[in-house]
Amino acid sequence: MPIVRSEEDTRELLARRLEEVRTLDDTVFADSVSDVGDHHRKLLERFESFVGALLAGHLENDRLDDMAQDFGQFLGGHFSVEETIMDLLEYPLAEVHKEHHRRFAEELGQLLRMVPLGVRTYGDFALAIGQWLLVHEGTFDAELSRYAADAIGANGQVKVTGR
Ligand SMILES: [Fe+2]
Ligand SMILES: [Fe+2]
Repeated sequence: MPIVRSEEDTRELLARRLEEVRTLDDTVFADSVSDVGDHHRKLLERFESFVGALLAGHLENDRLDDMAQDFGQFLGGHFSVEETIMDLLEYPLAEVHKEHHRRFAEELGQLLRMVPLGVRTYGDFALAIGQWLLVHEGTFDAELSRYAADAIGANGQVKVTGR
């Protein structure tokens, strides 16, 4: 079922979501482990670029598709790194966290497949990402970050090479 929302409403929502996602920076990214904090910053940068392109008025074009594909690929790599860290640390909440990753990757894939059909827009795609970053990084990733910091201790570090 397509979401019926005017372009203006989408822009307003995106601008608001961008501000909200930026507030994550100090709370979640700072104490992230290994490459994860860096990945989160890169996800935020990609999200900002995508929203920036949308707000500039390039709502449906090849560049947006490239950016959306790039976001999806980067996110997939990021999930692998986080999940490797969970396995290495025998993280007790790993399964529910991984399931959240799986469901979101599936949702993004479905959204992207619907854009060319005209049933969804890149605005919907960006809003889904913004909502997900807020919820997932603010809860699941923050919890993993706390657990990892405790498990590793002050001087140790888990190093998992990602993109
Ligand atoms: Fe993450
Ligand atoms: Fe995660």
